[in-house]
Amino acid sequence: MTSTDQKTEDGADTNTNRRQPYPQGFLDTIGTGWAARDETLPPERPQAPFALARRAALSAQFTGKRLVIPAGGFAQRSNDTDFPFRAHSAFAHLTGWGSDAVADSVLLFEPAGSGHDVTLYLRDRATRETEEFYRDATIGEFWVGPRPSLAAVAADLGVATAPLETLERTPDDLVVGEHDGLTSAVSELRLVKDAYEIEQLQLAVDTTARGFDDIVRELPRIIEHPRGERVVEGVFHLRARSDGNWEGYDTIAASGPHACYLHWTRNDGAVLPGDLILVDAGVEVDSLYTADITRTLPVSGTFTPIQRRIYEAVREAADAAFAAARPGMRFRELHDTAMGVIARRTAEWGLLPVSAEEALDADRGGHQRRYMVHGTSHHLGLDVHDCAQARREMYYEGVVEPGMVFTIEPGLYFQIDDETVPAEYRGIGVRIEDDILMTEDGPVNLSAGIPRTADEIEAWLAQSRD
Ligand code: GLY
Ligand code: MN
Ligand code: MN
Repeated sequence: MTSTDQKTEDGADTNTNRRQPYPQGFLDTIGTGWAARDETLPPERPQAPFALARRAALSAQFTGKRLVIPAGGFAQRSNDTDFPFRAHSAFAHLTGWGSDAVADSVLLFEPAGSGHDVTLYLRDRATRETEEFYRDATIGEFWVGPRPSLAAVAADLGVATAPLETLERTPDDLVVGEHDGLTSAVSELRLVKDAYEIEQLQLAVDTTARGFDDIVRELPRIIEHPRGERVVEGVFHLRARSDGNWEGYDTIAASGPHACYLHWTRNDGAVLPGDLILVDAGVEVDSLYTADITRTLPVSGTFTPIQRRIYEAVREAADAAFAAARPGMRFRELHDTAMGVIARRTAEWGLLPVSAEEALDADRGGHQRRYMVHGTSHHLGLDVHDCAQARREMYYEGVVEPGMVFTIEPGLYFQIDDETVPAEYRGIGVRIEDDILMTEDGPVNLSAGIPRTADEIEAWLAQSRD
C-alpha cells in the first residue's frame, strides 16, 4: 500500500500512475468530524537531566560558536520504501530522544553570552485540514500515526522547541558530520558514560542475553532448516523488536567455516551438528544504546577436543585482557594483552613461522595476526563502534577511565583454505565478546551472566534440551 502522491526532492510529483482524484466531497469530508486530541503534556523523561548536562558540557567547549546537530532523515531502501528512521547518535545523546525521535529534527546551539540558547527544531504537526495530514505517506499522520506536538516534545525532553521551517542557517554554523572539530567533540563527549547510559547499556545486555537464550532454545528448529543461520537471525530479531528497538548492527550468524568471515551477515547457510556457530548480536533498546555480544556454540552440544582447545585459548586471551583492565591504562594495552596470549598459543601449536616473542615484536612481528586480524576492544554506547570520530589520542592511545564501556572480543579464525595450519584446525572460527564497564575499582563484565567458558556453554546447551 502506498500513497499515490510521491514527490522528488525538487517537489515534482512521481509515481502518479495510481493517483486517485480528490473530488470536493472527499475534501469536504476528510477534514471534519474528528474528536479533539488529548493535549495533556507528558512528564519529563528520566534522561532529560542527563541530556541537559551533556549540552552544558558541549556548550562550554564552543563559546560563541553556532552549533547544528541534525537528527538526519529517512534513507531510501528502494523506490518509495525507506529504511526505518534512526536518529544520529550525537543528536540522540544531546536530546535524550531515542527510537521515538521525529525525522529531520535539528538541535541548534545559539551563542548567548558565555553559553548558548538551545532549541530543538522539529516538524510541527499538520492539522487535519492540510493535505500533508492525509496525503503524505511519509509523515502524514493519517498514514504513519500521531506525531507529538512541539509543546509535548518540549515537556518530554526539557528543551525549548520551535517549528522546523523557522530554523535559520548561517555560513558560520558548525555542523556535526561536516566540521571535524565539532564532530570529534560530540564523539569524545560520549567516551565516559553517565549513570543513565550505564543503566541503559546493562538493559541492552540483559535483553541481548534473553535473545541468546532464545537461540539456544530454538537450536533443534535451526538445525532442521536449510538456512538455519537465517533462523538464528530471525529468532534474535524477534527478541530485539519485541523487547527493544532493533539490533544495534546486523546480526552475524556464522556456522562452520562462515565463522572465519569476520562480518558474515549473509547468514544463508545451514547450521550443522559437529560445527561451531558464532553468533555476534546486540539488542538496541528504545533509548538507542546497544549491546555487542558474541558467543560461539557447538551445535551438537559438546566441543570436540580441537574446538575446545581453540575456544579456551580465546577465553584465556579475553580473561587476560579483563585482568589487565584498570583505570589509567592505555586503551590499546587491552589489545596488546590479548594478542600476547594469541601469539603464545598459536606458537605453541606450531602455527607460527617464528617464536611468540618474535611475533610480538612491534616492528618485525605480527605473524599471529593472520589468525586474528581485528582489534580486541572498541567503545560501546549509542553506536556499536561508539565514539568513532574521537581523535586517536583520546581513543586508541587514550587512557581508560571509570565510566567507559568497551568490548573485549578476541578471536581465532582458521579459514577453510588456510594451508598454514593442520587440517583439523581449518574451518574453525571462535570469538568471545563481552561488554565491560570500567569503574574506580576495576572492570565489571556487564555480560557475565551469559555462559562463556566451554563448560558453561555445554551446560547451557544441555539444559535447553532437558
Ligand atoms: N559486531 C561487531 C563488532 O563486534 O565489533
Ligand atoms: Mn564488537
Ligand atoms: Mn560484535
